[in-house]
Amino acid sequence: ISDSEYDRLLRRLQELEQQYPQLLDPNSPTQRVGAPPLPAFKQVHHEPPMLSLDNAFDNVELQDFERRVLERLADFNRGDNDANAAAKPTSELEYACEPKLDGLAVSLLYRNGVFERGATRGDGETGEDITLNLRTIATVPLCLTHDDIPPLLEVRGEVYMPLAGFKAMNERAEAAGEKVFINPRNAAAGSLRQLDSRVTATRPLEFCAYSIGISSDSSDGIGGDTKASGVLPGTHVETLKQLQHWGFLISPLLETAMGINACITYYDKVNALRASLNYDIDGIVFKVNRFDQQHHLGFVARAPRWAIARKFPAEEALTQLLDVEFQVGRTGAITPVARLQAVFVGGVTVSNATLHNRDEIARLGVMIGDTVMVQRAGDVIPKVARVVLEKRPNTARSIVFPERCPACDSLLQCIEGEAAVRCPAGLTCPAQRKQAIKHFVSRDAMDIDGFGDKLIDQLVDTAVIHTLPDIYHLQLSELSALERMGEKSANNLLRAIALSKATTLPRFLYALGIREVGKATARSLAQHFASLEALQNADEEELKTVADVGPVVAGFVRQFFTNTETLSVIAALRDAGLSWPDIKAPEHTVLPLSGQTWVLTGTLHSMTRNEAKAQLEALGAKVAGSVSANTAQLVAGEKAGSKLAKAEALQVPTMTETEFVQWLTEAK
Ligand code: IVH
Repeated sequence: ISDSEYDRLLRRLQELEQQYPQLLDPNSPTQRVGAPPLPAFKQVHHEPPMLSLDNAFDNVELQDFERRVLERLADFNRGDNDANAAAKPTSELEYACEPKLDGLAVSLLYRNGVFERGATRGDGETGEDITLNLRTIATVPLCLTHDDIPPLLEVRGEVYMPLAGFKAMNERAEAAGEKVFINPRNAAAGSLRQLDSRVTATRPLEFCAYSIGISSDSSDGIGGDTKASGVLPGTHVETLKQLQHWGFLISPLLETAMGINACITYYDKVNALRASLNYDIDGIVFKVNRFDQQHHLGFVARAPRWAIARKFPAEEALTQLLDVEFQVGRTGAITPVARLQAVFVGGVTVSNATLHNRDEIARLGVMIGDTVMVQRAGDVIPKVARVVLEKRPNTARSIVFPERCPACDSLLQCIEGEAAVRCPAGLTCPAQRKQAIKHFVSRDAMDIDGFGDKLIDQLVDTAVIHTLPDIYHLQLSELSALERMGEKSANNLLRAIALSKATTLPRFLYALGIREVGKATARSLAQHFASLEALQNADEEELKTVADVGPVVAGFVRQFFTNTETLSVIAALRDAGLSWPDIKAPEHTVLPLSGQTWVLTGTLHSMTRNEAKAQLEALGAKVAGSVSANTAQLVAGEKAGSKLAKAEALQVPTMTETEFVQWLTEAK
């Protein structure tokens, strides 16, 4: 089952046990943590036990957590005396914030600074002795550095597999015909539980410390994960810094936050960074920073009261494959689309997912009626990751790939060396015609405002539009006769169509929908040839000299401009009044922003996003949709959110809209 399903069931069980305490079983999973140890490893007793964490699934649950903590600490302070005055919460509570690493908890024991024994968490009280395996991990220090090391020190933390190492390891396994791991956590678990540590040594594992279990100078016996006494510092964050000083890796994202609202800001910031991290995290852990306060708060059965894990929305979930439909794309490629029982994953409700092509269906071995694991991370398109064969019903049906186009009934073609199956009918196929028009009017192409997908479907179905130039001959009467179209919106649409006639060569080239010619290639072609005529007359050799045009793209471009049908479409579009200014800047001119990548985010008031983009591009910048370490500048409009947070975290320079407008006037 998926992690989210596990969390949901565990929470349900907790609720039931609270309601019916007489039914509480000492062996209930709520009373234990993790799996029992394997008999093949020696057992290790954990004292204090290795605990788990309570989860919060939204901000309200976080606020509830803070309220409970403050109430308990207030009790504490009522009995105020000198001994516990230090535990008094200041006006706001200080938290330590760190990512929740998606790996396995381990305990490392050091005697006089030398690594002696390492163990898995097991059920929290008894784990497995995996010393030999842990010794193979480079970030598990074998000898601690510097002084003041307690004679006996137990460090706890997470072993995980970074994504790059996971990918490389699975590629090697696949090439050798061996079993691949489902995710980095399973890979880390499998690697740690090897009876032969030489195998572990070949696995790319890392260890990150997050607490101290026992230390010989600790005097209290409450059985917590952390103690405050002797030379050890009095807060969690200071303790981790001390561990870092002794040679341990700690999270580079560790921070303190005052009050739960600052914790929520931290959560949003790290969530925005999540996709760019090179390891998996499944949430954020917030811990009351001061040990005296932790001590007072204490524990419940399996988790401390002073910490909570705010989980990210699950990125995978189980659901049922109800049916498969076959969609015809702009270039005729047939894409099987899974119709799913709606499921909440990655923060949105998903009811469709692409199955890509026939090979992918075969690879997954999926059938209609199957229970499937659906994944959606960040803004990525949802995909069916795998089938749960154990749940296949008797009624499951095979997926039959059609032989004919579902839109025009043409016999489909398989092209040698291509995974896609295609409808060869081109623009005579109504599905391809619709897609071509949708692409032509889209924001980055001719940018015709108000020309929605439903409208295009209607116009093609009622044969008002056959080819692209028909868009420019639409009449008010034709439009206002359509369903859900008043005269006012019809007029607005006609105005938008008329406005789109003044365009740019790169936009026009992109709008034509030449195979494999995206925005960037359209821009390179326009810059290189400066006019449509020159591009139309170019042979493949010359095309190949253009930046990012290889033999395949050159072939598609040449094919496109030698097709008499496309040539007459282009001529008709120009007759309808489409025009663009000459490209002035020849390729070798270095523009002020050449080589820079900018990102626009938030709402702009003095211009549209596209206008801002065009201005930046005119100055030579590339405008990208997401922030990375390579971003030269972020322009943050009103209500800028995660991109701004990410830019700040990556120390990318940012400017407000006012600053941007000012800068533009100076740059021109
Ligand atoms: S603290 C008493 N901090 O999450 C608190 N745990 O559900 C003990 N984990 O078993 C855990 N990152 O495997 C803590 N920064 C972090 C963590 C973390 C990952 C795991 C750990 C633990 C589980 C609790």
